[in-house]
Amino acid sequence: MLDLRHFFDKETYTLTYLVYDKDSLDCILIDPVWNYDQSSSTVSERSVNEVLGFIDKNSLRLQLVLETHAHADHLSGAQVLKKKFPEIKIGIGKRIIEVQKTFKEIFNLPDLNSSGAQFDLLFDDNEEIKAGSINIKCIFTPGHTPACASYLIDDMLFVGDALFMPDYGTGRCDFPLGSSSDLYESITKKIFTLPDETKIYTCHDYLPNGRELRFQTTVAECKKNNIQLNQSTSKREYVEFRNKRDAMLKTPKLLLPSIQVNINGGNLPNVEENNVSYLKIPVRSK
Ligand SMILES: [Fe+2]
Repeated sequence: MLDLRHFFDKETYTLTYLVYDKDSLDCILIDPVWNYDQSSSTVSERSVNEVLGFIDKNSLRLQLVLETHAHADHLSGAQVLKKKFPEIKIGIGKRIIEVQKTFKEIFNLPDLNSSGAQFDLLFDDNEEIKAGSINIKCIFTPGHTPACASYLIDDMLFVGDALFMPDYGTGRCDFPLGSSSDLYESITKKIFTLPDETKIYTCHDYLPNGRELRFQTTVAECKKNNIQLNQSTSKREYVEFRNKRDAMLKTPKLLLPSIQVNINGGNLPNVEENNVSYLKIPVRSK
């Protein structure tokens, strides 16, 4: 029987989910966080350690780390976990290759391998994945990024940044290769066509208007109440709204480090002769 435990990183409003089988003790982790302090440019394993504490306490066996996409607002903790458990696999939708190619050019990273090789598993749309006793279906839900995937496990759907809680809306679509039109299709034709009672778990909750943390909704609730895209929203309305809204949004605080690390599978760039790893900061004139 499956159970779920969530972990919330207050710095980046990110939810990490641990799904575990109470009988076999197999578990998988979705979207782990590697904490990064921008002012000192230091990483810490605080969030990963919280997860590891739970895994340890319950004698769980980590099988697989799933990324819903290459996040632009936090660093992935996947490689930190891989160093501790070299046998685990890290998986992501195979369209990550498009994202790698795009950002390889944007950041001018000639050494970046853009074949997806940093990940152990590159999923196809509708691919069924087995992690010990846990069965997962990967459903591509592009829009926020082209490589976004949702993961269906029993009646739980982990949607990444495609959808947020109904009072907050949907993911932004203004990153390179993002598309509000694609996100509309992903939500209305893929997520909204799942059974109404399917539980939806979001990758972020921004605690709008000071409300308490909420991260689980249902297909029925989203279809009825999502403030940006519900069952009565037309594609034209949504695309117009989303594009206008995205033009006003600020760049995520950790965009530059997050993208460079996450398209590299959660790895920092190789250390230089002085044993320090460096990230790039592009500078442009207005
Ligand atoms: Fe994201």
